[in-house]
Amino acid sequence: MSADVNVNANVGVARDRYAVIGNPVAHSKSPYIHARFAEQTGEPVEYTHLLAPVDGFVAQVRAFIDAGGRGMNVTVPFKLDAHALADRLSPRAAAAGAVNTLSFREDGIHGDNTDGVGLVRDIEVNLGFALKGARILLLGAGGAARGVVLPMLDRLPRTLTIVNRTSAKADELVAQFAAAAREVDCELTGGSAKAIQPHTYDVIVNATAGSLDAALPECDDAAFGPGTLAYDMMYSAQPTVFMRHAQTLGARAADGLGMLVEQAAESFYIWRGVRPDGAPVLAALRAMMKTPAA
Ligand code: ATR
Repeated sequence: MSADVNVNANVGVARDRYAVIGNPVAHSKSPYIHARFAEQTGEPVEYTHLLAPVDGFVAQVRAFIDAGGRGMNVTVPFKLDAHALADRLSPRAAAAGAVNTLSFREDGIHGDNTDGVGLVRDIEVNLGFALKGARILLLGAGGAARGVVLPMLDRLPRTLTIVNRTSAKADELVAQFAAAAREVDCELTGGSAKAIQPHTYDVIVNATAGSLDAALPECDDAAFGPGTLAYDMMYSAQPTVFMRHAQTLGARAADGLGMLVEQAAESFYIWRGVRPDGAPVLAALRAMMKTPAA
């Protein structure tokens, strides 16, 4: 795909309206990302952010639809509300139990979840790690972890181990996805940190909320090696504690900024039928994060 920028391609054209809805939402990078995608593709898209009261999600969505809105990204704390609101769900949104992309169509509200595909595309396309045949360790069993299991299984890994501080929640995920794993011949196991297998993993994904308060999820050091990609779904200007820990054990580390860009690219594709190139937008965001605010 060409990364040419068509800055003036849609000047004067009536734009289709999209927004990210959340609470809080002012910090969201989605308006920046989608503006770059619109420039890149020449699609007539206007994308803003919408703050909804915590008990006012549905009313805000309905008002946006009435005003001609075509679609929305949904962020914290409304992904479950969006799941409940949708008239139709994609299989990956149904499996995730959460919706981050709404499309307002003639036949109703469609709900999808692009977070998992965003993770997978960042790992495979941007970071160059093939998941086919890989041994994957997933740390965490909350909403973020649940959303990525099916898209990861779609890439045909050899094994997937799901480990969580509260082991019963990992057991639940293993039970939920057992049939899907069997279908693709993936050995799916999990539980407490004891379920971690005695070998280095190809990919370790931190889907716990630990990085928010600089907590390291329990994980055997032997799981990390020089061939391991250690991926933290969180991102910040500085490497997270999980990334630094992985690096001291010889692993390559990545944060979740690329996942953010790629989930947005997949949403854009759902709405517009055109797939933007995430790489230049990711590079621009990375540069902005490294530059201290004036
Ligand atoms: P999210 O939607 O971000 O996944 P969540 O559903 O609240 O949020 O899940 C948070 C995840 O981070 C859980 O797997 C949680 O472990 P528990 O199920 O045991 O609560 C995990 N988590 C949060 N803080 C953690 C910490 N300090 N160490 C390890 N795991 C942590």
